[in-house]
Amino acid sequence: MTITYVNNNYIDHNKAVISVEDRGLLFSDSIYELISVFNSKIIDFDLHIKRLFISLKKIRIKPNFSKKKIENIINKLMNQNSLKNGYIYIQVTRGTAERKHEFPINYKPTLIIFTKNLNINKKIYEKGVKVITMPDIRWMRRDIKSTSLLPNILSKQNAIEKGAYEALLIDNGHITEGSASNIWIIKDSNKIVTHPVNNKILNGITRQTLIKILKKNNFIVLEKSFNLIQAKNSKEAFLTSSTMSILPIIKIDNFNISNGKPGKTTQKIMSLYNYYINQKENKKKNSSKELKIA
Ligand code: PDD
Repeated sequence: MTITYVNNNYIDHNKAVISVEDRGLLFSDSIYELISVFNSKIIDFDLHIKRLFISLKKIRIKPNFSKKKIENIINKLMNQNSLKNGYIYIQVTRGTAERKHEFPINYKPTLIIFTKNLNINKKIYEKGVKVITMPDIRWMRRDIKSTSLLPNILSKQNAIEKGAYEALLIDNGHITEGSASNIWIIKDSNKIVTHPVNNKILNGITRQTLIKILKKNNFIVLEKSFNLIQAKNSKEAFLTSSTMSILPIIKIDNFNISNGKPGKTTQKIMSLYNYYINQKENKKKNSSKELKIA
């Protein structure tokens, strides 16, 4: 049986419930985090929890839990659910109250945490993926990891229906990010470009970590916006997110990127990122028997 955490209770995942008056359900008055687990190790736990508390602050939900409490819940769920490869999902809503748009005077946030086992499909990393482009119709606070994701899911669905993996979103002529990922283009073998951090994108944790890795390895990272022509003329391109790590792009709309095959630089970057994950694992194995946190 898979166990899920909802408001201080550990319950059978299939029987976990929240109120129909929960503001997360009624208004998407809630934020979330998705944290990857590889080989029983949680990737970039501290950065994800930091962003979770930042998102809460931005939408003015006062948390009634600590980072330590989340760590303990996750530890328990991972053991109970034998989570080796997959993800941990955390959602916090402004709680249950009579349906009124304004904040309730007294509220108790709803905290939901569940885990999911996933099998990695290695083929897409070897082959790369096609992406399409679409107008970015989202609100102007994309920096908040809100569960208000209608434009994102509509864009993703459109991509899937067109036989693509992801939709790149275009705002004012510039590519911001994917519907559920950040986008990067490679100009020449050591110049990597990705959208700057502002209200127009989510500052991905994979993005943050990869920037550090790239700089350490003498790549030049340019946090600059770019347009569709620049993307189509790039040498190589790739997507990043917690669930997919680094995924090569081989086609944008009808344009082949890097001759329709994952390029050498992307492959190098993928191996640097994998090395980061494995290296952290070894370090933690020596220092902690309990939770393995990157
Ligand atoms: N999405 N941009 C958007 C709009 C996203 O939804 C995501 C991740 C990212 C990448 O962020 P990170 O590297 O922190 O995962 C960028 C998650 C995985 C999701 O909603 O499933």
